[in-house]
Amino acid sequence: MNRRIIIFTIIAMTLALVGLMVIQIYWIKNASSVKEANFRRSVNEAMTKVVMKVERLEKKKALTVYQYESMLNFNRHLPYAEFITKAALDSLISLELNIRGVDTRFEFGVYKPEGNEFLIEKSINYSKELIEKGYAYILFPTDIYTSPEYICIYFPHEKQFLLTELWGMLLISIILIIVVVYSFSYMVTTIFRQKRLSEMKNDFINNMTHEFKTPISTISLACEALSDADMRKSEDTARGYVNMIMDENKRLAGMAEKILQTAVIDKGQLTMRKEAIDMHEVISDVIKNLRIQVEIKDGEFIRRFGAANPRIEGDRVHLTNLVYNLLDNANKYTPKRPMIRVSTENTGNGILLIIEDNGIGISKAEQKKVFDKLYRVPTGNIHEVRGFGLGLSYVKAIVEEHRGKISIESEVGKGSKFKVFLPFVIKE
Ligand SMILES: Nc1ncnc2c1ncn2[C@@H]1O[C@H](COP(=O)(O)OP(=O)(O)OP(=O)(O)O)[C@@H](O)[C@H]1O
Ligand SMILES: [Mg+2]
Repeated sequence: MNRRIIIFTIIAMTLALVGLMVIQIYWIKNASSVKEANFRRSVNEAMTKVVMKVERLEKKKALTVYQYESMLNFNRHLPYAEFITKAALDSLISLELNIRGVDTRFEFGVYKPEGNEFLIEKSINYSKELIEKGYAYILFPTDIYTSPEYICIYFPHEKQFLLTELWGMLLISIILIIVVVYSFSYMVTTIFRQKRLSEMKNDFINNMTHEFKTPISTISLACEALSDADMRKSEDTARGYVNMIMDENKRLAGMAEKILQTAVIDKGQLTMRKEAIDMHEVISDVIKNLRIQVEIKDGEFIRRFGAANPRIEGDRVHLTNLVYNLLDNANKYTPKRPMIRVSTENTGNGILLIIEDNGIGISKAEQKKVFDKLYRVPTGNIHEVRGFGLGLSYVKAIVEEHRGKISIESEVGKGSKFKVFLPFVIKE
C-alpha cells in the first residue's frame, strides 16, 4: 500500500476517533445536565408536597385550638411544636423524596430570615450550607401577619449522587474508548511492521536474484565456450573453464545453503554435532579463505591470539560459518584498506572472540536491528555491497545455541567491534 494512503487513512481515523470522543463527552455532559434538572424537579415536587402537607396538618390542629377564638387567628399559624415534631417532618420529607427516586442523605431546617434563626433544624452542623447552597420553599404563604418562614433542604452528597447515576455510562464509555484506541494503535504498528517486512522481503528477493544471476551467467558462458569444438582442443583452456564452473557452482551451493539454514533455524530444527573445537584453528582457516579478498583492497588481518585455552565444545561447521560471517562483514563493510583485528582471550568460563574493523560502522539505533533476519542497514536506497541480511541473524542463533553472548560496539565512520563469548562447555 502506498505510504501516503496509509498516512492519510491514519490521520482520517485519528480525526474520526477524536470527533467521536468529543461527541461522547458532549453527550455525557448533556446527560448529566438532564439528570441535574430531573433531580431539581423531583426535589421541587417533593418539597411542594411537603409544604402542602405541613399546612394541612397545621390547619387541622388550628381548627381544634381556635374553635372559640377570634377568626383573625386563622391567619397566624400555630407554633410548630403544637402540630409537628422534627422527626415527623423528617419522615415526611424522606417519604416524598423517596417516592420520586431521590435516595440520598439530606439535611433540612425551618428558617426565619427575620431574626436569622432556625426554628427547626435536623442537625445543627449544616446551618450555613442550608442557607447558602440549599433549596428553599416558603411555608404558609397565605399567612399575612407573620414574617415569612422557609423550609430549606440541602443534599451533602448531591454531586456524588448524580454521578453514581451516570457512573455506569461513563465507565462503559471509557472502556470502549480504551479498547478502540488500543486496537487502533495496534493496527497502525502492525501495518508499519508488515510494510517494513514486505520491503525487506523485496530487497531480499532483489539481492538474491542478483547474487544468483552472476554465477549462473558465468556458468552458462563457460558451458558455451566448452561446447565450442575449437576450445576443447586445448586441454588447459578446457580445464580452466571446468574449474570456473566448479567454483561458481560451489558459490551457488553456498548461497542456497545459507538460505536453507535460516529456514531451518526458523523452524527450530538446528542440529548441532558437538565436539572439541580449537577456535584458533577455525579462525585461521577462515582467514586463509578470506585473505585474498582483503589483500586485493590493500588490507590485512591482524591476529592476536591471547587465549591460553582455545578449545571449546561446539559444532565445527556452525562455528566456522559464524567466524566466516563476522570476518566477511568486517571486510565487506570496510571500503578502503581493511585492517581487521582478530583477538581471543580466556574470560570467565570460556573464550572471548573480538573482531574489530575500521569500516563504515553502525549507528546506535541500527545496532539493535542488525541481528534481525533480513535486516540490512539502509545506505540510501542503493546497496553498494550485496548481501541477504541473514549473516548476523544466523551468527546470533549459533551463539545462543552454544549458550554464548554477542555484543557490538561501533561508531559510524570509525569502525565496528563484535565481541563473541563462547563457554568451554555447553550447559543445557
Ligand atoms: N562490520 C560491520 N560494519 C558495518 N556494518 C555492518 C557490519 N556487519 C554488519 N553490518 C550491517 O549489518 C547488516 C546485517 O549484516 P548481515 O551479516 O546480517 O547481513 P549482510 O552482510 O547484509 O548479508 P549476508 O546475509 O550476506 O551476510 C549489514 O547489511 C550491514 O549493514
Ligand atoms: Mg554478512
